[in-house]
Amino acid sequence: MSNMALVSFTSTLLHWYDEHRRIMPWRGEKDPYKIWISEIILQQTRVAQGWDYYTRFIERFPTIQRLADASLDEVLLVWQGLGYYSRARHLHEAALYIMQHYGGVFPASYVDIRSLKGVGDYTAAAIASMGFGLPYPAVDGNVCRVICRVFGIADDIQQNSTRKIITQHCTKLMQGFEPGEFNQALMDFGSLQCTPKNPNCENCPLATRCHACQYQMTNHLPVKSNHIKIKTREFHYLCQVNNGQTIIRQRVDNDIWKGLYEFPMIECEYHRVREKTRDILPSEFPDKTIWQTKHQLTHQTILAFFYLVKTDKMPDLQPHEILVDLSKLTSYPFPKIMTDFIETVLKNVKSQSKAKAK
Ligand code: ADE
Repeated sequence: MSNMALVSFTSTLLHWYDEHRRIMPWRGEKDPYKIWISEIILQQTRVAQGWDYYTRFIERFPTIQRLADASLDEVLLVWQGLGYYSRARHLHEAALYIMQHYGGVFPASYVDIRSLKGVGDYTAAAIASMGFGLPYPAVDGNVCRVICRVFGIADDIQQNSTRKIITQHCTKLMQGFEPGEFNQALMDFGSLQCTPKNPNCENCPLATRCHACQYQMTNHLPVKSNHIKIKTREFHYLCQVNNGQTIIRQRVDNDIWKGLYEFPMIECEYHRVREKTRDILPSEFPDKTIWQTKHQLTHQTILAFFYLVKTDKMPDLQPHEILVDLSKLTSYPFPKIMTDFIETVLKNVKSQSKAKAK
């Protein structure tokens, strides 16, 4: 595109944005702390669900200082249900870092922002452009799709080299315009107009400038190679109940649920659970599960099975295990896969003298 064509493209995009921009609580926000929080939340959820989490998070931790002063358990509890808990841990760690190294003032350069824990290219560009007006393109999935279609880029968008090409196109397109507005306009355009399936090409102000639209390639762009295999895992949770109490443990392994709590768990195939629990459970293992559920993560499907073990004698506590009252369970952060069980099943179990397995 010539320089004039670039300017005309972006003017048209911004005009579209003026009329169609989505309303969100973080729109127009200039506080880099709030932009940071909203961007991290939006990486893993849709806007409608993210809205509630954002509002609650900012109410609870309105400043970097308040986030840094909180305990990790408090932060994880507010995050509970959003998934990808490493993001909450990184937010907390980065807040402490900003307090120590920048006196609590959010760093104002792209390089310093990018070096914060949990902040990648996209998030750094989003904060730098919206919070500080710096000309960095925030390239997310929506932006990739729009740029690949408009410029007819048929390379795999999962490759860094393709991301680089897309970023270069965006850098040229945003020249002379307000970077934060440009980035958000392109994201909204991708999510409302230039959608993955059935994009609204008949009624698109950029259709005449779009390579994919001109050559009927919209359904074939962007190109995404799908080589990630989804793995299925079986988790068997033992909810042991005695005298209104149960055992939970904090996860210490460096994985997505680090720091969260869970019932003692065995990972194995369904038909091997009995044999695996024989040595660790003092009481009889129930015939059936009391609850089971499925949880889809990006690269794995988790099948969770819950067993209610009514016992006269609790086993000795293992490292990281604690004994808690059933009524206090909700004050601990759990992965979503367990909160459903606690809220729908365990609530009813409490008052029963003898629970029946399903
Ligand atoms: N997705 C994530 N952040 C966004 C923003 N600020 N505008 C539009 N879509 C987004």
